[in-house]
Amino acid sequence: MSRRIALITGASRGLGKNAALHLAAQGFDIIGTYHSKAGEAQTLVTTLEQSGARAAMLQLDVGNSASFEAFASALGETLKRDFGRDHIDVLVNNAGIGINAPFAETSEAQFDQLLNIQLKGPFFLTQRLLPLIADQGRIINVSTGLTRFALPGYAAYAAMKGAMEVLTRYQAKELGQRGIRVNILAPGAIETDFGGGVVRDNSDVNAFVASNTALGRVGLPDDIGAAIALLASDGAGWVTGQRLEVSGGMFL
Ligand SMILES: NC(=O)c1ccc[n+]([C@@H]2O[C@H](COP(=O)([O-])OP(=O)(O)OC[C@H]3O[C@@H](n4cnc5c(N)ncnc54)[C@H](OP(=O)(O)O)[C@@H]3O)[C@@H](O)[C@H]2O)c1
Repeated sequence: MSRRIALITGASRGLGKNAALHLAAQGFDIIGTYHSKAGEAQTLVTTLEQSGARAAMLQLDVGNSASFEAFASALGETLKRDFGRDHIDVLVNNAGIGINAPFAETSEAQFDQLLNIQLKGPFFLTQRLLPLIADQGRIINVSTGLTRFALPGYAAYAAMKGAMEVLTRYQAKELGQRGIRVNILAPGAIETDFGGGVVRDNSDVNAFVASNTALGRVGLPDDIGAAIALLASDGAGWVTGQRLEVSGGMFL
């Protein structure tokens, strides 16, 4: 049986990169996207290939929906040329940015940037990629614990992620007729470059999160990559339309 293929947006760093490593270990070939870090993306291809997976990286600005047509063409060509396939089996909508701004001070420009990258992008990218996703496939969207609990400074960011949670249920309903499972994973605070690396690099923030987490520490990329692989696994085949929080029990 040929290996299944996962497309992961934002795979050059952080959670997307980690998901690529976990999915490859579970037998997936990987097509990742990067935005600005072509070097990191190429390094990941080498690592994945050394582990026995086939891998490719494509450039994508998920905030620019006008580019999705060309991206879909490039993906289709890569699938045929490098993987001998017409479809991907799993789409992970992971790429994203954080902007920390109090509600009272959030600018329209900040709101629009978050809207384009965190909501409009995954909405229309997934729509455009539907013909390239195999029947019985999986879509895994990425939210945040901040949709369940409120921390100051994330009103616009969390509002977009909350909309992704609603969208996930509609996608699960409408794509179920093709056997496509759609779920959304909500990480707690994880040590990555996200938000300027604040969870990893600011010891006060790190200690605050750890002290409010049942398992007593902040999250690490492996905590999330493993959970994404879990949602892509055969064992999760009867799970659709669900939000899975992966936070070690933040603010229970
Ligand atoms: N880390 C956390 O604490 C945390 C918690 C909850 C949810 N999340 C969510 O998890 C996802 C990944 O976060 P992360 O922690 O891995 O962040 P990260 O380490 O900052 O990595 C972000 C990734 O997204 C890509 N990216 C950024 N802007 C993009 C754009 N306009 N178009 C396409 N790709 C873009 C980056 O590509 P380049 O490197 O090539 O520029 C990079 O691969 C995000 O959706 C975030 O909202 C993170």
